[in-house]
Amino acid sequence: MKNILITGGTGFIGSHTCISLLEDGYDITIIDSLINSSKKVLEGLRDILELTNNFDENKIHFYEGDIRNTSFLQDVFLDSKKKKKTIDCVIHFAGLKAVRESKSNPLLYWDVNVKGSINLLNIMQENDCRTILFSSSATVYGDIENLPFKESSLINPSNTYGYTKAAVENILKNIFDADSSKWRVGSLRYFNPIGSHPSGLIGENSRGKPENIFPYICQVASGIKDKLYIFGNDWPTFDGTCYRDYIHVVDLAEVHKITLKYLLERDSANLTLNVGKGKPFSVLELIKTFERVNNIKINYEFSSRRDGDIAISFADTSKIYNLLKWKPLKSLEDMCKDGWNWQKTCV
Ligand code: NAD
Ligand code: WQD
Repeated sequence: MKNILITGGTGFIGSHTCISLLEDGYDITIIDSLINSSKKVLEGLRDILELTNNFDENKIHFYEGDIRNTSFLQDVFLDSKKKKKTIDCVIHFAGLKAVRESKSNPLLYWDVNVKGSINLLNIMQENDCRTILFSSSATVYGDIENLPFKESSLINPSNTYGYTKAAVENILKNIFDADSSKWRVGSLRYFNPIGSHPSGLIGENSRGKPENIFPYICQVASGIKDKLYIFGNDWPTFDGTCYRDYIHVVDLAEVHKITLKYLLERDSANLTLNVGKGKPFSVLELIKTFERVNNIKINYEFSSRRDGDIAISFADTSKIYNLLKWKPLKSLEDMCKDGWNWQKTCV
C-alpha cells in the first residue's frame, strides 16, 4: 500500500484526512511542527481506529519538525526509505491560516506558506516523488459580483494569506509546465470547513481567540466567551447577514482520498478543484441550526461589518462532481452536531 506524507497532519483537516486514508489501508507519514496542534491528536487517531479494530501502529509515522527546515525534510524522506516505507506522494496541509495575522505579519506567511512549500517541492523532486495535493482556499477568488465562484473565476486575493495560497498554486502550475510528463499536482480550494469526526475524538484546535465563526460559536456555547458578535446585519442578503458555503470536515477529508487516487491513476495531471457544498447558509441560519440540533442558546449581538468580508461566497461544484462524481454527504445539522460534540470535550 502507498505511503503518503501528510504535512500538517495533526491539524484540523489533516487529522481527519489521516483517518480517511488509514481506514482504507494506506500508510501515512505525518510531519508537523505542532505550532497549531498537539501530539494528543495521534492518540485521537489511534482511539478512532480502535473503535473498528483497525489500528496498526506500523502504519502511522510521526516526525515533529518544520517544513522550512530542508535537512529535516530530507531526513524524513531518507528515514522512510530506510524503513522500506518510501514516500509515494504528499498531501500538503502545513501552513498558517489566520487572515488578520497574515496582514500584520506578511513575511511570516510568505516564509511558512510559500518558502515552506518550495522547500517541500525541492526535496520531493530530489527524492523522485512528484505527486502532491495542496490545500488551497476559496480566499484566492476576487470577482465577488459573479457567483458562484468557478475554478476559472478571477484570482485576486484581498489579503496576504490569500496571496500566499495563490502563489503556491502558481508554483505548482509552473513545475507542472516545466516537466508535465513527471508531475501530478492538485490544488483543492476549500470553502468553509467546519464540524468534526462524529466520534468527538479529534476536531479543530480551539485554543486561543478564534477568528472563524464556528469555533467562536462553540466558545460561546461552552461559556468561554459571553457573546458572539455578528459582523453586520445590513448586508444585501435575505436576512442581512453574510452567506458562506460550509462543508463538513469529514466530507472534505474524503475528497482528499478520492482526488489523490485520481492523481495516482494518471501518468500526469494538473488539477484545481473547488470543494464546498455549493449551497450557502447565512450566519443567522448557522446559529439557529446550531441552537436547534444541540439545544443550546447562543448569545449574540450585531456589530459592524468586518473589514475584508464579502456578502456571499459559495462554490460552483460542477467541476469536482463531473470529474470525480463526488458530492458532500453531510448536512449543516451534522456539522453543528459533530462540531459541538468535539468542542464540548475541549472545555
Ligand atoms: P491547522 O492549523 O489546524 O493545521 C495546520 C497544521 O500545520 C497544524 O497542525 C500546524 O501545527 C502545522 N504547521 C503550521 N506551520 C507549520 C510548519 N512551518 N511546519 C510544519 N507544520 C506546520 O489548519 P487547518 O484548518 O487544518 O488547515 C490546513 C490547511 O488548509 C492550511 O494550509 C490552511 O491554509 C488550508 N485551509 C484551511 C481552511 C479552514 O477554514 N480551516 C480553509 C481553506 C484552506
Ligand atoms: C464566516 C462568516 C463573518 C466570526 C475565512 C478565511 C478563508 C477560509 C475560511 C482559510 C463571515 C462572520 C465570523 C465572528 C461573525 N480559511 N463572523 N462573527 O471569512 O468566510 O473565511 O475562513 O482558508 O480564507 O477568510 O470565514 O468563519 O471567518 O466567517 O459574524 O466572530 O461569519 O463576518 O460572514 P470566512 P469566517
